[in-house]
Amino acid sequence: MSQFWSQVVHSLTPYVPGEQPKLNNLVKLNTNENPYGPSPRVLEAIREATTDSLRLYPDPGADRLRAVIAEYHAAQGITPQQVFVGNGSDEVLALAFLALLKHDRPLQFPDVTYSFYPVYCGLYGIDYEVVPLDEAFQIRVQDYDRPAGGIIFPNPNAPTGRWLALAEIEQLLSAHPDIPVVIDEAYVDFGCESAVALVHRHPNLLVTHTLSKGRSLAGLRLGFAIGDVELIKALEMVKNSFNSYPVDRLAMAGAIAALEDRDYHERTRRAVMKSREALVADLRALGFEVLPSAANFIFAKHPVRDGAELAAALRQRSIIVRHFKLPRIDQFLRISIGTDAECRVLVQALMEILG
Ligand SMILES: Cc1ncc(COP(=O)(O)O)c(C=O)c1O
Repeated sequence: MSQFWSQVVHSLTPYVPGEQPKLNNLVKLNTNENPYGPSPRVLEAIREATTDSLRLYPDPGADRLRAVIAEYHAAQGITPQQVFVGNGSDEVLALAFLALLKHDRPLQFPDVTYSFYPVYCGLYGIDYEVVPLDEAFQIRVQDYDRPAGGIIFPNPNAPTGRWLALAEIEQLLSAHPDIPVVIDEAYVDFGCESAVALVHRHPNLLVTHTLSKGRSLAGLRLGFAIGDVELIKALEMVKNSFNSYPVDRLAMAGAIAALEDRDYHERTRRAVMKSREALVADLRALGFEVLPSAANFIFAKHPVRDGAELAAALRQRSIIVRHFKLPRIDQFLRISIGTDAECRVLVQALMEILG
């Protein structure tokens, strides 16, 4: 604490990201990174982008990248004016909280969800209410039928991995046409339908995506949002009041290449989903309760062994998973899907730990 701090700093409770240990030879299954590298075309594009233009500022409007994202969603009729890009979807979300989710009535999100949401609320002074998931850790859209300034949740939800069908998202949107609804689709590449298809019918819907998970580009920092042009305008206004160039030239080049290499994306996302199903079966065979997941992680708990102790025992064997010391979920482990070899190491270690 210091006399030089602004008043707002005293009241902040910052987000704590999953550990990025500096050790080698870890089986790192704690931050939902993709176990496969990005498309080789990404690295080529980044190399090319380093050759002549780094002395120049990047395009503040990211026009080419936005056009490529719109083209990727051509089947849903998305235009570049309906696309916003940022430095990771965390930044896109941070801007959306200020641009769209700060109202007199409280923002609503699930009690078990992405733990950055309450942090943004703290930063901007947004009043919020949590809506409990049901006993099976599922979102029930009818539970959101109360006065609110906005609604946000991930689909699939994190850290549970559970997802809602598009029909339920549409039911929610139809019930709340007068407030902004943000669907955070960070994990949509791993088996759930995107709500981008609903943007045309629902001008209050903003869908956010990231290249961190499905495109293996967590280190590049690229996220985007798709929504009605008026929502995108609000994001642009806040962004241009903060940082004109959140997406640098290398990130833009890499992101374009990643979006254009559809075969690679298809192959790697399918490989992750296949490994997930095998890991779910192995953990169930060891007695774990595993929630259904459409993400690149699973959420599992053992009927008798303590979650924190299991995470610590895995850590001793150089395997890192995520454990949240939070109400309702402190017995669960969130395990990112690794390569098949990494999943085998995990299962072997759990067999030893459980005896
Ligand atoms: C639900 C959810 N949304 C958004 C993000 C942010 O992703 P990024 O900032 O890497 O795009 C994460 C990251 O783990 C997440 O779990």
